[in-house]
Amino acid sequence: MPNNRYTMWFLEILQAEKGACHKMNLNIVCIPGDGIGPEIVAEAKKVLDKVAQKYNHSITYKDILMGGASIDACGEPLTEEAIATAKAADAVLMGSIGGNTSTSPWYKLPPHLRPEAGLLKLRKSLNLFANLRPAYLYEELKAACPLRDDIIGSGFDMMIMRELTGGLYFGERSTKEVDGVLTAIDTLTYNENEIRRIAIKGFEIAMKRRKKVTSVDKANVLDSSRLWRKIVEEVAKDYPEVTLEHMLVDNCAMQLVKDPKQFDVILTENMFGDILSDEASMVTGSIGMLSSASLNDTKFGLYEPSGGSAPDIAGKGIANPIATILSAAMMLRYSFDLDCEADAIEAAVKKVLEEGYRTIDIMPQEEGRRAEVTQVGTVQMGDLISERI
Ligand code: IPM
Ligand code: MG
Repeated sequence: MPNNRYTMWFLEILQAEKGACHKMNLNIVCIPGDGIGPEIVAEAKKVLDKVAQKYNHSITYKDILMGGASIDACGEPLTEEAIATAKAADAVLMGSIGGNTSTSPWYKLPPHLRPEAGLLKLRKSLNLFANLRPAYLYEELKAACPLRDDIIGSGFDMMIMRELTGGLYFGERSTKEVDGVLTAIDTLTYNENEIRRIAIKGFEIAMKRRKKVTSVDKANVLDSSRLWRKIVEEVAKDYPEVTLEHMLVDNCAMQLVKDPKQFDVILTENMFGDILSDEASMVTGSIGMLSSASLNDTKFGLYEPSGGSAPDIAGKGIANPIATILSAAMMLRYSFDLDCEADAIEAAVKKVLEEGYRTIDIMPQEEGRRAEVTQVGTVQMGDLISERI
């Protein structure tokens, strides 16, 4: 019976559609942290909840303490119990940690008990060696970009791939008297395996982008950089479609403000990546816009805004939640393979910017252009984005 066949066909389509948007349960650990952290994480959760509702997923959240909040409650920046809770999750969403380094009592503590030590311990314990920091100039935010129009041109879009569990951050260090003179030592160590695994991630990402890798080092001075260059060149042989160039880190710092358009993937070690990613974020207009993902070899990741805890504006309701919201989008994409849902968040952010809503950090620099946009606070920005999912 043609009629029956038609019904069967229709049922098959329904079945296929059900399979395509299968319901997921996302087990997420949140680290609200210090300063503006709790405010911006709350907005990211609001947006995630909207996505879950719209796309029929469920989310289980669990909070853990880290940084100053954990020092105050537990006497240390990250407890073993908190690490175990994070490890048991599918992904971690973090706000920010730390306080004012000159005035906060946390910075009177020995270094291993300060807020940042918690984050470093978490990165190391979860083996989060690959840190992705996209720096992208939104068309709508050109007026907030400190570079001249002729430098900005048609905008730029780069991905900083920073090694996150090696180098100076995790080398041996000490402060002692040498011949009666107080002397501090930090050591920068990389082995070939650590370099190879981050290089592979860098080339893999480049394959999905414009297929160019700029490997940044200081090979004219450092042995660790010379090994870096050698291993990156070896890895490059497996990616013939990708153009590899090497750049010294001081030159890279200059090129980022001189001609940021030239970059696609910047691949670099821990300390250089820390410094260059702050610089790259500033040329996009605001660090409040930039998300980041820290990944290991599985689907697990820690997602956090690139900016810090901004203690000066904490509790004022003016912090930009967009970087955290975009980090939640990265989480959906990288840890859960939910590309449609991630796209929906990114599109909602773009829409809100197009409609002229701005937090204070992304207001146009020129007085005359401020009247063209509407300044909003943290909660309002979260509401606007969530409404557009
Ligand atoms: C970052 C931060 C951290 C780092 C600090 C808080 C330890 O600056 O994520 O870039 O240096 O890695
Ligand atoms: Mg930094």
